[in-house]
Amino acid sequence: MSAILTLQNVEADIGGSRILRGVNLEVMPGEVVALMGRNGVGKTTTLRTIVGLQPNRAGEIVYEGRSINRLATDVRARAGIANVPQGRDIFPHLTVQENLQTGLSAKRRSRIEVRDALDRVYDLFPVLREMLKRKGGVLSGGQQQQLAIGRALLTDPKLLILDEPTEGIQPSIIDHIGDTLKALKKEGGLAMLLVEQYVDFCRETADRFYAMDRGAIEISGPIAELTDEVVKEHLEV
Ligand SMILES: Nc1ncnc2c1ncn2[C@@H]1O[C@H](COP(=O)(O)OP(=O)(O)O)[C@@H](O)[C@H]1O
Ligand SMILES: [Mg+2]
Repeated sequence: MSAILTLQNVEADIGGSRILRGVNLEVMPGEVVALMGRNGVGKTTTLRTIVGLQPNRAGEIVYEGRSINRLATDVRARAGIANVPQGRDIFPHLTVQENLQTGLSAKRRSRIEVRDALDRVYDLFPVLREMLKRKGGVLSGGQQQQLAIGRALLTDPKLLILDEPTEGIQPSIIDHIGDTLKALKKEGGLAMLLVEQYVDFCRETADRFYAMDRGAIEISGPIAELTDEVVKEHLEV
């Protein structure tokens, strides 16, 4: 089986500084991969190069067998890469319903397909159905995170990218989000690349991990190899 996503020696600069120094990683179809590392090591920058928000100065980003380095963000999105950015980034002045509708524009669908896609998101995140007319900005952090994931799923992605989905969220909602990611994985087909500092969440949801430091991957392996020693050496402050 070939990877859905491969990063080969990806380098990126921000404001004249080298932030990514040759990142190599792979996501297989249907696999959940955790990208871990301390603050400031380049996790978010790595995700931004994949979705096209940050140019890579060298290296290759290969998605479904072709290089996507030069494709615009919206083209990558239509090809099946969905992004749930750090800090969630929903539209605060739009209602929940309007926020979800922005996810539907990525793909042509019949009325029935739209209804089924929305029903699936409401089944995964029942709170969204209750809050359809509320403005995104008045939701709690956890509700906004569910909205951001719901919106991403409405694009019908093949690769879901999540940047710190548990950050600043209360434990009961973290559990629900973890269960939802596991349920999506079980359904099959959807690959996920998850940036996350919460180690137990990664152990619960991911198949494999990569640990990053100063712009490059230091160690990787099956999630069972994310031992306390590895955490201490590579992830703890
Ligand atoms: N817009 C920016 N301007 C200047 N430096 C930035 C910017 N974004 C990120 N950086 C720097 O790039 C490095 C990696 O950042 P980031 O990818 O956000 O790290 P992480 O997500 O692992 O915490 C950090 O040292 C950060 O200070
Ligand atoms: Mg980050």
